[in-house]
Amino acid sequence: MTGELSPIDKAKFVAARRSVDFVEDGMRVGLGTGSTAAWMVRCLGELVRDDGLRIKGVPTSTRTADLAREVGIEVISLDEAKWLDLTIDGADEFDGNLNLIKGGGGALLQEKIVATASDQMIVIADAGKEVETLGAFPLPVEIIPFGWQTTKSLLEELLINMDVLGRDAKLRMNGGRPFLTDEGNYILDLHLQRIGNAHRLSMALNQIPGLVENGLFLDICDVVIVGHGDGRVETR
Ligand code: 5RP
Repeated sequence: MTGELSPIDKAKFVAARRSVDFVEDGMRVGLGTGSTAAWMVRCLGELVRDDGLRIKGVPTSTRTADLAREVGIEVISLDEAKWLDLTIDGADEFDGNLNLIKGGGGALLQEKIVATASDQMIVIADAGKEVETLGAFPLPVEIIPFGWQTTKSLLEELLINMDVLGRDAKLRMNGGRPFLTDEGNYILDLHLQRIGNAHRLSMALNQIPGLVENGLFLDICDVVIVGHGDGRVETR
């Protein structure tokens, strides 16, 4: 499954492989999105195929749904599952309190809904994602296309009163057009550099009409499994 991996891919793979130890027969499992989560989905697929593990997976994007089906995982919707035993997902940043920035892959909305509907959320990440203070990675926020420039202006005004260093909001593009999420929305990437009070920022952002959700995952993650390029794995 792995072949010759670069150190960063090895770090992602070993974290992903360790995370599937938490998955038990009969569980309903939230399946995250991104390159690290894709390793986890492949590892789960192997357990389903070779060890007869029976799980139902709730994917957080069409990409993950396609991969899960391809590797033989039974896919159900969140409405069918109603509640999940466990969600395993990647992250763009995590801090010492296990708070996260997510959404680099544009799937933050479904990821947050699914993680919130889970008894436990496990994050898998390479060691480079660990930070003292969140914010070096641009914070993605999902906004609806209607009136998006007005939403962006409101957001920029709000950032003036927030404890952040940078205030640049950039519309995410894809091949010359706005990037579209699975819900048909746009993403603004907020270049904040340092987020002084993530809880205050998250609450304020979600008050803006037109802003659907932000990529701060606060008090949601229970465990972070950190992979290193030399194959070591740590748990936070
Ligand atoms: C997608 C995400 C991903 O989990 C995050 O971007 C990490 O991706 P990768 O594992 O490829 O580094 O939040 O919306």
